[in-house]
Amino acid sequence: MYGVIGGSGFESIMKLEDVVDIRTPYGSVTLYTGKLESVDIAFLPRHGVRHEYPPHKVNYRANIYSFYKLGVERIVGLNAVGGIKRYMQPGDIVVPHDYVDFTKCRRYTFYDGPKVVHIDVSQPYCPELRRSILEAASEVCPERLWDKGVYVATEGARYETPAEIAMFASLGFDVVGMTGCPEATLARELGLCYATICLVTNRAAGLQDRLTTKEVLATAKTCIPYIARIVELTFIRYLPRERGCRCKEALVEAEF
Ligand code: HPA
Repeated sequence: MYGVIGGSGFESIMKLEDVVDIRTPYGSVTLYTGKLESVDIAFLPRHGVRHEYPPHKVNYRANIYSFYKLGVERIVGLNAVGGIKRYMQPGDIVVPHDYVDFTKCRRYTFYDGPKVVHIDVSQPYCPELRRSILEAASEVCPERLWDKGVYVATEGARYETPAEIAMFASLGFDVVGMTGCPEATLARELGLCYATICLVTNRAAGLQDRLTTKEVLATAKTCIPYIARIVELTFIRYLPRERGCRCKEALVEAEF
């Protein structure tokens, strides 16, 4: 079974029939399961089924753990982002290869002690899953695709100031969002594969006049058809059935 985490604007990207409540040591999670062609999928709306959890209140640990409990080994995250690079247009797709975490008050690990674990994130996203997403996206919308990028996560709930974006731009970051961290790290801590498809819903603060959630949601809505197709193709055509990456070995030699 494969997992998909839908962010703001992507709550309706997949209509799966069965609602499942999963209990985890970190809290309960509601997700949807069903089939995409012949492939079993679990779909989790990151912000809750009624979009009730803002980015800093999302229960990232429970969300990721619920997939683990279901036996999901590979997760695709969908993230709405602001484009920091001036050449990025709303509607573009970025598949980041790295991230920088500027969040401030989240639960970042499953290992709060006494067991202490430092996992390696030299390759922060699963390389095999990323490659499969890129193959799918090159087929669906090559003209909108940026095949790498650095994702910077901010705490929210507000958007960034122009000075923050100018700083991020000078540091070479490409896109900004509020939920990419610690999601990717937590998946790695459980040995799960994780990669993200970022949709540029707006130019980042200071690069356009003002920034509204209405605009973010409107862009996401118009882009849902091709993002859904990328997800589908990733799973049904490009991702090898067996994992060939090293994500499942993340805990080997990581314990203190
Ligand atoms: N900043 C942070 N999060 C976002 C943005 C943004 O510009 N657009 C969509 N999510």
